[in-house]
Amino acid sequence: MSQPSWNIAVLPGDGIGPEVIRAATSILQDCAGEFGFHVNLVEFPFGGNAIDKCGKPLPEETLDGCLKSDAVLLGAVGGPNWDSQPLDRRPEAGLLGLRQALGVYANVRPIQLRKPLRALCPLRLNSDAKIDFEIIRELVGDIYFGQHKTEGEGANERASDLASYSVPEIERITRFAFSRARIRARRVTSIDKANVLATSRLWRKTVTRMAAGASDIAVDHLYVDNASMQIILQPSQFDVVLTSNLFGDILSDEAAALAGSIGMIPSWSAGDGPPLLEPIHGTAPQLVGKDMANPSGAILCVSLLLRERFQMPEAADAIERSVDAALADGLRTADIAERGSRTIGGSQFAAEVQTRMRQAFRQRRPERAQPA
Ligand code: IPM
Ligand code: MG
Repeated sequence: MSQPSWNIAVLPGDGIGPEVIRAATSILQDCAGEFGFHVNLVEFPFGGNAIDKCGKPLPEETLDGCLKSDAVLLGAVGGPNWDSQPLDRRPEAGLLGLRQALGVYANVRPIQLRKPLRALCPLRLNSDAKIDFEIIRELVGDIYFGQHKTEGEGANERASDLASYSVPEIERITRFAFSRARIRARRVTSIDKANVLATSRLWRKTVTRMAAGASDIAVDHLYVDNASMQIILQPSQFDVVLTSNLFGDILSDEAAALAGSIGMIPSWSAGDGPPLLEPIHGTAPQLVGKDMANPSGAILCVSLLLRERFQMPEAADAIERSVDAALADGLRTADIAERGSRTIGGSQFAAEVQTRMRQAFRQRRPERAQPA
């Protein structure tokens, strides 16, 4: 039987994007060899580097390649070089355009404090407390995609951003959150600002109606200000967190801090077309070229890709165990360094993860390792 073969559009992007994507693709190739599938990786310009090369952040060739792919693997976009560009020509506009064109309305951000990193959590946790929840962020609506307007001048200058949500948009992300809850602990916390915003009132009304028809799931609601406090006070209360685009952006960075570093968090954006995998850490301009970037977020994107898109839980587990093994051996990038650990460069950290994964592969197939 021929091996399955997948086309992956690779968008290294800007800043530390290319460094972490190199680590991720290398891990992916190893998994392909071990688990019997083929990946065809095709790189495209995207973000600031695409502005420099092609005059726009999301060139047609890139969009076309992404739409035709089985999945898109993205590093990060943006940076000080393009900060003075108008909103619609910034690298970030390319990212929003890509998310919209792919129709990836559901952004999954798993927030997990990995065991070897427990001491790095800024909270005083009880010894049995776990941080393991999933933020489901609506990704193609809200204030991100409404009209952004600036009018007048000087003291009369005024700016506005339009937030809107429709019932079907809220329904589909809620359905998605419910489906995630069904493979977890069946609890969903929906987060809004229904005491002030019209979009949030519709959000809460819609989620409440859908919750009434999903008796197997416990649904509750929090205002976003309270939610941001609860994440710090008692993160173990959360299982699936369902929220809008802007609130999800803000709360996910806050939650990432609990995992020891934002460098540890991958994300998976799902919709009707190819999924988009991107670590949530951004381009970290201060780290570029120093080999200091933590590749874990990007490596864990590969695990999400294999688990969620290609239904290969065994390969996904192998990746996660290898990251944990490297961490447990005290190996750290600078962002997760702690007393008694050994700080190494990002590329070496990736190599150490890979070595552990290859060892695990050899043990998985003992017959292969033995001389004939
Ligand atoms: C994220 C990022 C992006 C967002 C930026 C780069 C546009 O912060 O993915 O969290 O706001 O969605
Ligand atoms: Mg963000």
